[in-house]
Amino acid sequence: MKAVFPGSFDPITNGHMDVLERASRIFDGVTVTVMHNARKQGHHLFSLEERLEILRECTAGLPNVEIDSFGGLLVDYMAERQHSIIVRGLRAVSDYEYELQIAHLNRQLGDVETVFIMAATRWSFVSSSMVREIASYQAEVADVVPAASAQALARKFGQPQRRAQRLAGIPAAER
Ligand code: PNS
Repeated sequence: MKAVFPGSFDPITNGHMDVLERASRIFDGVTVTVMHNARKQGHHLFSLEERLEILRECTAGLPNVEIDSFGGLLVDYMAERQHSIIVRGLRAVSDYEYELQIAHLNRQLGDVETVFIMAATRWSFVSSSMVREIASYQAEVADVVPAASAQALARKFGQPQRRAQRLAGIPAAER
């Protein structure tokens, strides 16, 4: 059975990677699909091509993962590609209400099921928007995003000038 992991991925974080790796162990294959909306192009930091390139780099080591994109309704994409399972990550209870609404909406609109996978607690505070904000001040984000995302952020905002104080010196497993 195959699944689709849709999102904006602007850029992909370690939380997304954690959910994706877990999904790739559960399903025979996972397609990471960047959902884009031409009218919202200016709302993203990274262009569609940049996001796809970062995703390709990050997932090179996951043989049953492929990358795709779609500019339209998720349920239309699912029907076109003959997929029926959507994977979404949950970090905290606060994500649940929004995700529940989308899952019900998608089930109403199309013949799809949404499967939620909980990200590891150490990524519960990580979001793409926070990562963009932190990187824009040239603070270090390498602890919370894959290398390809960190490099792409550094190209946008400049190399990080300082480490995040609270993360310094704490072993990765304990964060
Ligand atoms: O990473 P995000 O921004 O939380 O992902 C949200 C996304 C892209 C999965 C969602 O907005 C989406 O499916 N957009 C495509 C348009 C659509 O189908 N909208 C109806 C459900 S909100």
